[in-house]
Amino acid sequence: MKVTVSRKAHFNAAHRLYRKDWSEDQNKTVFGKCANPYYHGHNYELIVHITGEIDPQTGYVMDMKILKEIIKAEVEDKMDHKNLNEEVAEFENLIPTAENMAVVIYNWLKPHFDSALALKITLYETPRNYVTFSG
Ligand code: NI
Repeated sequence: MKVTVSRKAHFNAAHRLYRKDWSEDQNKTVFGKCANPYYHGHNYELIVHITGEIDPQTGYVMDMKILKEIIKAEVEDKMDHKNLNEEVAEFENLIPTAENMAVVIYNWLKPHFDSALALKITLYETPRNYVTFSG
């Protein structure tokens, strides 16, 4: 019997959506206000979902204290109050859209979990816009 446990986290970050190999005009046409050269910020809401069997000894799918610590070390410490384009190496040549961020976060978290556990990422960029990625 598989059960999903989820943990919410929050971070603020700035980004700019643009391609270095496109002109200013082309970037503006595709990315609109998000191409603003002076950057802009979002209040990101992250939900990390872990699906697995209930451990008969503990009654847990996984210890939520450990999940909380992994999310803090791997996501909040790396992204909170950061300029994603300038300060997070993964986005040096990757546009920091919510889609790409969800994949980067998944790849940071995945190695920390037992292979019997399935990982899914939900990332809200605004209260109405969110992306999901499960590998
Ligand atoms: Ni944006």
